[in-house]
Amino acid sequence: MKVNAGDLSVLGSMKSHASAPGKIILCGEHAVVYGRPAIALPLTGIRAHAHITGSAPGSGIRFNAPDLGRRWLLSTTPGDPLSELTLTTLQQLGITGMPDVEITITSDIPIASGMGSGAAIATAIVRALADAFGRNLSAEEVSSLVYESERRYHGTPSGIDNTVIAYERAIWFQRRSEPPHLIEPLPMTAAFTLLIGDTGVRSATRLPVGEVRRRWQEDPARYETLFDMVADVVHQVRQALQEGDLMALGPLLNRNQDLLEQIGVSSPHLERLIAAARAAGASGAKLSGGGWGGVMIALVELDVAMQVRKALLESGATRVLETTIGE
Ligand code: MEV
Repeated sequence: MKVNAGDLSVLGSMKSHASAPGKIILCGEHAVVYGRPAIALPLTGIRAHAHITGSAPGSGIRFNAPDLGRRWLLSTTPGDPLSELTLTTLQQLGITGMPDVEITITSDIPIASGMGSGAAIATAIVRALADAFGRNLSAEEVSSLVYESERRYHGTPSGIDNTVIAYERAIWFQRRSEPPHLIEPLPMTAAFTLLIGDTGVRSATRLPVGEVRRRWQEDPARYETLFDMVADVVHQVRQALQEGDLMALGPLLNRNQDLLEQIGVSSPHLERLIAAARAAGASGAKLSGGGWGGVMIALVELDVAMQVRKALLESGATRVLETTIGE
């Protein structure tokens, strides 16, 4: 059904809010861009928010992102990724004409940290727009709107970030050459705790993703072998989680880190935190997400969590988050 934005008498008093979680990749990043499986987890405790309020007739769509120190009008900055996403979403919702609204974006998720800040902001906006116009979008629809936006601005994303954020559950993800991609809930029989250490070094995901592509094009045989080895680790992680074999999980995360180092996406900052976490008793640690900066994860038993957190902070982590999966 098509609705003209101007016909919506509710707009003046409109108030809508939606949020979306951050995410981490447990294992399989980068190889997932090349069709191998990966496991991603939502971070429901840290979120991006979009608030939509109706504004004066004729004022159009205004964005306000105080955390980024940015304000802009859709009409004067139509090429901004969030302006484009908003237009595409309105189109999908069947809204013609331009509503008069202010979209305020805030986020607890540090940008360019590997925790999915861009996809979470985009997801919060799509959800808030759907809510503002009284529409329901399925997780799949939200995810594909956000994917299109990510694809336009971030090169060749696999689709795992928008998927785990839109579905808000632990997923097994495998990209196929044509959608639908393989998205399965992750079977888990035991809970486990991860500490997430932030290097404080910001690294836009598209940079390491672009560099891996360049290296893969130069030496496809080597990179295909490395991606196959990552896939093997990811399959073993799945089995360990399914069987509740947490003893197996740590060494598998370490093995994934070795492979990420060979792929060329680690960094001295990440490796410093990873070494500190292992030395302080973490049973496994690796970078998570795009690499070259951003965050690392450490698998910890509760009795060593405090000392691993302390070691991470002493080794330069700018913050340490804790998440328990599978409870
Ligand atoms: C980023 O969270 C994960 C990467 O594999 C990129 C992608 O899958 O699009 C590095």
